[in-house]
Amino acid sequence: MQISRVRGTSDILPGTTEKWQAMEQTMHQICREYAYREIRTPIFEHTELFLRGVGETTDIVEKEMYTFLDKGGRSITLRPEGTAAIARAYLENKMFAQPQPIKLYCAGPMFRYDRPQAGRLRQFHQFDVEVIGAEGPGADAEIIVLAMDFLARLGLKNLQLHINSVGCPQCRQVLPEKLRTYFSGEVGDLCGDCRTRIDRNPLRVLDCKNGKCRDIGREAPTPLDCLCTACTEHFEQVRRQLDILGIECVVNPRLVRGLDYYTRTAFEILFTESGAQNAVGGGGRYDGLMETIGGASVPAVGFAIGLERVLLLLDRQDVSLDTSVGLEAFVAVAGDTEQLATRILADLRKEGLAADRDYAGRSLKAQMKYAGKTQVPLVVITGEDEAARGVAVVRMMTTGEQTEVPIEMVAERVRTLSGR
Ligand code: HAM
Repeated sequence: MQISRVRGTSDILPGTTEKWQAMEQTMHQICREYAYREIRTPIFEHTELFLRGVGETTDIVEKEMYTFLDKGGRSITLRPEGTAAIARAYLENKMFAQPQPIKLYCAGPMFRYDRPQAGRLRQFHQFDVEVIGAEGPGADAEIIVLAMDFLARLGLKNLQLHINSVGCPQCRQVLPEKLRTYFSGEVGDLCGDCRTRIDRNPLRVLDCKNGKCRDIGREAPTPLDCLCTACTEHFEQVRRQLDILGIECVVNPRLVRGLDYYTRTAFEILFTESGAQNAVGGGGRYDGLMETIGGASVPAVGFAIGLERVLLLLDRQDVSLDTSVGLEAFVAVAGDTEQLATRILADLRKEGLAADRDYAGRSLKAQMKYAGKTQVPLVVITGEDEAARGVAVVRMMTTGEQTEVPIEMVAERVRTLSGR
């Protein structure tokens, strides 16, 4: 029996990889402009990092992690998200000793045992950006602007920014009790998970995907109702800065996000699909995370965008990325000229041109047919007669026009003709 890929994973094939490269190029470019530097952390971490960092009562930790014991008996987890690992790397590599803030980004695969559907996979990719060591609302605003700018540069439209403040530990002393009181009369109608959430982490009930729990929670007190003066001021300033920068947002008091580390700003970038709203990205401030995982208190804010969701939206909105990465020239071998073809191919590549040749010993006719199918603009033909005269033929495929060019001049001619 043929072996297939694991459910919820995907093969990214040529034709699509070019789109990924275009997205990645935009990502590197934008991060350079906003002064963020790339970090690459391992794909697996000690499970403890996510238990403490993401939170034991979150869906991610309770239901979605790929956790296993390695051969040394350690509990290891494939990273379900990037922030906890970046926080760990910040502490472990003593980046707090460098001038602050530290502005980092990374992109790579994440793993969640989610229910696979369009835009929801078990191995998916995030573009993740973090500012560590900055408390002021300017950092929150910059993170949001960067996320929106990235999506706009790729050509995405009709996205909605939802923003909220989930407050600090001081404001949070009030909310759980208010929520418990609110939900106390409705416990029987909540889903099984939410019944335990009421005791362990009632804020999570506001984030439940179950329709009935959502309905019941519609009038529930929200974090925004309980903000302390400092958090209210911080939130107002973030909104003011977004306003100055012309970024429209909807204040959504019910937005709590699915991870426990958030403090103050929380946001999501949503698109509407058959009536339902779905997130292309999200993030917020996490001033308590470093302490939770054993470090000193360091304020931080960041976001992650799901790259599969970006691609899905680009397709649905009929936006094509610049993926012109095809061949510039193909060398067709006629007769006994293989050595000459090899040499010309090497010359072309030395000129920085994308070039290939036939390795299957096909007839000249078959090679020309192949070149036509791949839509390569130029073909260099190495024929025996021409080789004896020290020349090769350069053919423009669109017009059929052919010229003889001295062998040592071929690479330069191809470069000129391809406008490089
Ligand atoms: P998150 O909201 O869990 O946040 O994920 C961010 C984005 O990753 C989502 O908006 C979505 O586009 C994508 N995503 C999540 N799960 C899946 C899935 N199963 N399949 C495809 N795409 C998915 C975080 O992960 C936080 N670490 C963001 C952050 C960074 N907060 C502060 N800094």
